[in-house]
Amino acid sequence: MDKKIKSPQKSYTITLIPGDGIGPEVTAAARKVLAAAGVVVDWEIVDAGAGAVEKHGTTLPDETLESIKKNKVALKGPLTTPIGEGFRSVNVALRRELDLYANVRPVRSNLGISFHHSPIDLIIFRENTEDLYSGLENEIAPGVAQGLKIITEKASKRIAKFAFDWADRTDRKKIHAVHKANIMKKSDGLFLRSVRDIAKDYANIEYKEIIVDNCAMQLVMRPEQFDCLVLTNLYGDIVSDLAAGLIGGLGVVPGANIGDEYAVFESVHGSAPDIAGKGIANPLATIASATMMVRYLGEEKIAAKIRAAITLLLASKKHLTPDLGGNGTTQSVTDALIEKIKLLK
Ligand code: NAI
Ligand code: MG
Repeated sequence: MDKKIKSPQKSYTITLIPGDGIGPEVTAAARKVLAAAGVVVDWEIVDAGAGAVEKHGTTLPDETLESIKKNKVALKGPLTTPIGEGFRSVNVALRRELDLYANVRPVRSNLGISFHHSPIDLIIFRENTEDLYSGLENEIAPGVAQGLKIITEKASKRIAKFAFDWADRTDRKKIHAVHKANIMKKSDGLFLRSVRDIAKDYANIEYKEIIVDNCAMQLVMRPEQFDCLVLTNLYGDIVSDLAAGLIGGLGVVPGANIGDEYAVFESVHGSAPDIAGKGIANPLATIASATMMVRYLGEEKIAAKIRAAITLLLASKKHLTPDLGGNGTTQSVTDALIEKIKLLK
């Protein structure tokens, strides 16, 4: 008699940076969800950010970078960056050290918690390595400061190609390059020319250009006209929080930092010090980021199942954290999601 041979289950070693503030709470939730969905992960837990200084004397210990370089994939909680003074952003350092040049943020409206009447389904591609995040700032005279906006043809073409390839692969129809080349003729001008140059190779994808302030207004008024946006670093940062606001806020928007060799998955939101430790942080953004990671690992079916469970959970409106108007907790939302995943099995 034929015996069915069960293939051994694939397992993954993945770096986990729990992060600061609500980071440990929401990454713990994501780990539970992945385990319940059947993704076998050996988590290598490492430090970064404010929390790493006491133990390692630095915000970005070598072992953290080495762990990601070894495992190639990481899930990361948010890291606190002091405002105005103190250490430089660890997120910026991490993205540069690992050359994670593409920041991908899918923004999709969900039944039940949509803040907008129109259906929204767009992907933001944010250049992740240069622009005003170069950190090149000087006080050139008392009372006068300057910051350098660095834009290169190489990085602009690279993010454009990444966006067009992604759109092509996933059957997206349209890309808007977002800029302010009317004012910043050299820097944004170079970005725009670079994107245009790449767009020529993709006849199947409609290419459009829009000035960033108009884009902000259009996103609020008629978000359904957008499919994919490609932007420089700072515009990408600001526009993604705006877009998050259209679909229920930072508690639900996932993200990925992707390069040619490594990928670090993290939500768009920060460490939310105002609610840290209270057990009420919305875990869905980090769970959705972990779901993008599962898809990146090639586990398409499992990723689709978690995504479907999130959609069902939000549509039922029964288990929502306070940021979505509910009175649920990180724990209760996570448990309810796991129940839905089990039902979908
Ligand atoms: P934030 O995203 O941490 O919080 C903004 C608002 O959204 C707060 O009212 C917060 O309570 C709420 N919020 C954020 N995530 C939430 C969640 N999962 N559930 C419920 N409510 C949520 O932005 P903020 O306050 O500007 O930054 C706080 C710190 O985080 C700063 O040090 C900043 O540098 C850092 N940050 C780190 C990021 C990262 O590591 N990738 C990204 C953005 C900010
Ligand atoms: Mg941001």
